[in-house]
Amino acid sequence: MQTLASAHSGLAPSAWICRFAPLVPRSGPVLDLACGSGRHLRLFLARGHSVTAVDKDLSGLSDLGGAAGLERLELDLEDGRPFPLSDRRFAAVVVTNYLHRPLLPALVEAVAPSGLLLYETFAEGNERFGRPSNPDFLLTPGELLETARGRLRVLAYEDLEVATPKPSCVQRIAAIC
Ligand SMILES: C[S@@+](CC[C@H](N)C(=O)[O-])C[C@H]1O[C@@H](n2cnc3c(N)ncnc32)[C@H](O)[C@@H]1O
Repeated sequence: MQTLASAHSGLAPSAWICRFAPLVPRSGPVLDLACGSGRHLRLFLARGHSVTAVDKDLSGLSDLGGAAGLERLELDLEDGRPFPLSDRRFAAVVVTNYLHRPLLPALVEAVAPSGLLLYETFAEGNERFGRPSNPDFLLTPGELLETARGRLRVLAYEDLEVATPKPSCVQRIAAIC
């Protein structure tokens, strides 16, 4: 049977996100921030979650039509305004391959009790492999741990070089509220 996750021909979901998806409270709402073509929101829709998709360009979701349970918010997260979802709480906050540092505290705040922060993006050292190489887009050592400290319980954390889907330096965390 094809699922929303497998029917889309784009990138496969991250193995890190897939690993922790079963721990997200059943049918709770999921935020996919800077979702791109929505590889992770497709995974969570297929698992029965409602999903809020945020990106400055949601054209990558056009094949999803009026999918049930999908809320689309096309907006610029870096325009200097306060985080637009500060009054909402999510069973999972999912962010991959995106970093805008001023948002980090608000993203931790957006995790509901028993919910998860699932974050994976490029880290310092990645400049050796190409882009992103701008320090604004690269996590510093321990930065995701610091983000979670005192607010979330860390289930897993890695800061390492990976070979796939392309050689890069990444940092990733799974943390529960
Ligand atoms: C490398 S893609 C990652 C997409 C997705 N998270 C994934 O891993 O497949 C980065 C995404 O961030 C979005 N983005 C970049 N700057 C943004 C901004 N200022 N506001 C909202 N989204 C932004 C881009 O449109 C793009 O979809």
